[in-house]
Amino acid sequence: MASREQFSSKAGFVMAAAGSAIGLGNIWGFPTQTASNGGAAFVLVYFVLAFLLAYPALMAELIIGRHARANVVTALRSISTGPLTYKLASLAGFSGLIVASLILSFYAIVAGWMISYLIASVSDMLGWQGASSWLTSDSFQRNVIFLAIFMMLTMGIIAKGVAGGIEKWSTRLMPMLLILMVGLIIYVLMQEGAEEGLRIYLLPDLSQIKPALVLDAMGQAFFSLSLGVGTMLIYGSYLSEQESLPRLGAIVTVVDASIAFIAGLLIVPAIYVAKYYGADIFTAGGELIAGPDLIFQILPVLFDSMGGVGAIVAFAFFLLMSIASLTSSISMLEVPVSYATEESGASRGLATAIIGLTIFVISTVILMNFEALFGLVIDLTTVYSQPLLGVMLCVFVGWIWHRDNVLKEIKKGHGDIESTLFWKIWPGYVKFFCPVLILATFIQSIIG
Ligand code: TRP
Repeated sequence: MASREQFSSKAGFVMAAAGSAIGLGNIWGFPTQTASNGGAAFVLVYFVLAFLLAYPALMAELIIGRHARANVVTALRSISTGPLTYKLASLAGFSGLIVASLILSFYAIVAGWMISYLIASVSDMLGWQGASSWLTSDSFQRNVIFLAIFMMLTMGIIAKGVAGGIEKWSTRLMPMLLILMVGLIIYVLMQEGAEEGLRIYLLPDLSQIKPALVLDAMGQAFFSLSLGVGTMLIYGSYLSEQESLPRLGAIVTVVDASIAFIAGLLIVPAIYVAKYYGADIFTAGGELIAGPDLIFQILPVLFDSMGGVGAIVAFAFFLLMSIASLTSSISMLEVPVSYATEESGASRGLATAIIGLTIFVISTVILMNFEALFGLVIDLTTVYSQPLLGVMLCVFVGWIWHRDNVLKEIKKGHGDIESTLFWKIWPGYVKFFCPVLILATFIQSIIG
């Protein structure tokens, strides 16, 4: 086998993994979930779960990946210990490939909307009313065209491979994302109405913490760290043995949670600024508008109210969303593509083309049956599959893989790991605590 590609540096890995983690889940999902779950209480629970539950699961993926140096299917099979666990490995691995692809199939639709709004902000600046109104109204043609554009960007990067594609583009795009976000926050916080939003975002009302809120926060944490489907596993497999996995995993978790927090500082106050300018931010039932309407109806009220600078702010905002989507979508596509290239020997270009096209077709089917399929695919993948696959990965590390071998792997790049708090807590943690807590939250939600 040809020598396997790797990230060229620690920073390259952090950019790529943070790029995967930071996406629509942070900038859109987290703030809207926060807003519709009563504000700061959700923020609090989310942070606790991100570190208590998602970080240990992230570590499981990174360790398996770097040890096996292979895609999720092959990696899980390689640590199986008999025919039964081998079957379980195949089941979990293939489910990962499918779920990653399905997540991309809805994610690319939403990302396509971001690009169409991005271009609409340009046509606004040019005074092309007709173009703007086509770009911002929901039509099948518009949706398919921008879906195709976004998929082509994603495929173009993945076809270029690990260092020259994933790492290069993540390293270029992530700093841009941060600059755009900080600029936007400063602007929004200076507006009338922002203070009310800030208060809701930052002052927790602990009576709001209910099982449904905990479940939402858990799902959000898993989605945001790209867990369960083998994304972080494959990124771990491209990491050198000189790096400390617990440390890099912690950096990625902290960066991801921080960006979610910062995005909340932008979006939640922005909702209330829009309210100040007359946007209807509550549904008829008195709940805060969430979902697509938030981004595509409420925020434009805000941009419109700004006069001349509105189009520039809109441009910055949708550019931010597009970039964040792209560094995430490539990490989804890499999951099936790495399997196809490693198992069938197909070239990266060919594998990317075939799989990318297949996902594009699935997305198109979703668009044609939007009401029936869009929400269903999101729920099936993110609410059900991701946490269950997360449990499987914890089971593999905690119960199936030999503890000595786990230790041997983490020791690489972190020689004194045995004397750290991490090694005292984590193994038992992924073995008992994580599966039990994930399943309990899950069952709670099904019966509740
Ligand atoms: N974490 C990304 C976000 O917050 C989305 C993402 C990328 C993802 N790769 C994934 C989600 C794999 C689930 C599985 O937007």
